[in-house]
Amino acid sequence: MSGPLLWAKAETRRINNALVTGTANMVDAEIRLARELEQRVRDYVQWHHQDERSFNGVSVLDFGPGTVRAFQQKTLPLVKNLWGETSRCILVDRSSEFLRDIAQLPSAFGLRIEFISYDIFSGRRYFFGDEAAFVVMFGRTFGNLDASISDRPPVEAVVKALKKISNSAERCWMAISIGSDLRKDVAKAYYEAHPEFQLNVFYRMKSELPIDDNFDPELFEYEADIKGDESFMQVVHTAIVKRKVSFKLRGEMVNLSEGDRLHLKNSFSFSEAFFRECVRLAGLSSIEVLTDKAGSDIHVLEKAT
Ligand SMILES: C[S@@+](CC[C@H](N)C(=O)[O-])C[C@H]1O[C@@H](n2cnc3c(N)ncnc32)[C@H](O)[C@@H]1O
Repeated sequence: MSGPLLWAKAETRRINNALVTGTANMVDAEIRLARELEQRVRDYVQWHHQDERSFNGVSVLDFGPGTVRAFQQKTLPLVKNLWGETSRCILVDRSSEFLRDIAQLPSAFGLRIEFISYDIFSGRRYFFGDEAAFVVMFGRTFGNLDASISDRPPVEAVVKALKKISNSAERCWMAISIGSDLRKDVAKAYYEAHPEFQLNVFYRMKSELPIDDNFDPELFEYEADIKGDESFMQVVHTAIVKRKVSFKLRGEMVNLSEGDRLHLKNSFSFSEAFFRECVRLAGLSSIEVLTDKAGSDIHVLEKAT
């Protein structure tokens, strides 16, 4: 199944699942926070130059825009709010399907939008000179940090990622969405309610990679392993191999045994205090935390120049 289609299904299932498990509806909560952000964004950014309103505007960089719905509801209003003579919008996502869908959106026509298929945690510089940027990372994408399984708080990985994000421009502000509900049992039930979302990667491998017929995407079972303490939670998305198998991937032999556990990716959540401390260690300033007080936070940060 394509990423965008699966995502749309997952968005619907998450909303239903929230009703059953008692978790806050993350999708709606974040849209509400994004609206608040939209109303306050001009207070955050330095929109004036020598006491006069700058006509240049502020450019927007969205790391991991995802679906058309997410882009329309969260990012586009910010872009329109900060629009000026020289500002632009850059969307970075490694999924070219997501980017392609947004490019076809009529409401995006007329805006200077650049689509870049790249790693959002690369530390790449996107804006040069005095072009100021408002950088957003919605949908708890920051929680997908690349970090190994550990019981210790991932201070180093978080600080490193914050530094890389802030490297996108000399002068920038950032709005980073974070999950802050640290209840392990709730998280486990939430993710295990829709395993196909995590296991879809194996169907994509089967259809898109040079892999031999011994590889069977049905070979894996999903489990959410949870680590953490009062400052963080790491959901280790894990695929468990159901039976012994050997297959060739890009000409290389891969041997898996029954019970092998494959670490697919992470979803981290952080307490407000922990994230604020990491922000400080990364040399950034915390402007404000927008919160629904039920597990969805948007941290607004500034890179002092
Ligand atoms: C959790 S979704 C969030 C989507 C959207 N911003 C929202 O609010 O719903 C994460 C998005 O980031 C992209 N993504 C995740 N990790 C990435 C990486 N390392 N490099 C580039 N894109 C990445 C995914 O393709 C997806 O579009």
